[in-house]
Amino acid sequence: MLDIGCGSGRTTLAAARSAAPGSALGVDLSAEMIEVARQAAQREGVPNARFVQADAQIHPFPEQAFDVAVSRTGATFFGDPVAAFTNIARAMCPEGRLVMLVWQPFDRNEYIVAITAALAAGRDFPRPSPYSPGPFSMADPARMRAVLTEAGFSTPNVASCTEPMYFGRDPQHAFQFMTGLARWMLDGLDDRRRARALEALRTSIQAHLTARGAAYGSAAWLVTTTRR
Ligand SMILES: C[S@@+](CC[C@H](N)C(=O)[O-])C[C@H]1O[C@@H](n2cnc3c(N)ncnc32)[C@H](O)[C@@H]1O
Repeated sequence: MLDIGCGSGRTTLAAARSAAPGSALGVDLSAEMIEVARQAAQREGVPNARFVQADAQIHPFPEQAFDVAVSRTGATFFGDPVAAFTNIARAMCPEGRLVMLVWQPFDRNEYIVAITAALAAGRDFPRPSPYSPGPFSMADPARMRAVLTEAGFSTPNVASCTEPMYFGRDPQHAFQFMTGLARWMLDGLDDRRRARALEALRTSIQAHLTARGAAYGSAAWLVTTTRR
């Protein structure tokens, strides 16, 4: 099993557990994330989870090595998505399954709309383009289908998943996580506007508090296909 853009490895570990005695390989561009993932595998006793720091677009994976590839919002950052998915297809067995979660458009994701509204502090941020590398580059199902079929996959099935997304176990953790996620949005603000932006985020978190943390709406596509 291959986990594309595995981050800190949570999905790789879950996949490795269910794939045993098979194994799972997580790849991510970030050496720091890979180190966190390796430590988690060791701490949690999951020896069949392996991790490689690599660019999934061009990494020379062994051919036809994986019968399943997954990605949880880690496969939308490719500069040339057709080339990247062609590389991933090459690493998969014929009829191998690709399952990905990718974000639906910006406006359908309350969490990012709310963070942006708070931290913009009156500035007019451009909407992230659905046609450039980034979290929303697979938001348009027509484009996603075109990319995947050109890269050697069958026409994908695309199902909508709308779920609450929970941030932090309490308001302070939610605040830390959300400001970490969107730190760049504070760039260029003077002290007064920065304080106003952070206060707006705190107010938003309070308005979304639940027993499980701050809950915001999110919308993703669950994409399933097979290598042709
Ligand atoms: C939104 S995070 C998702 C992480 C993880 N899948 C999760 O659900 O926690 C996206 C991840 O994709 C990784 N990534 C982006 N482009 C990549 C590439 N070309 N090759 C490998 N990893 C990549 C990033 O480093 C980041 O860790």
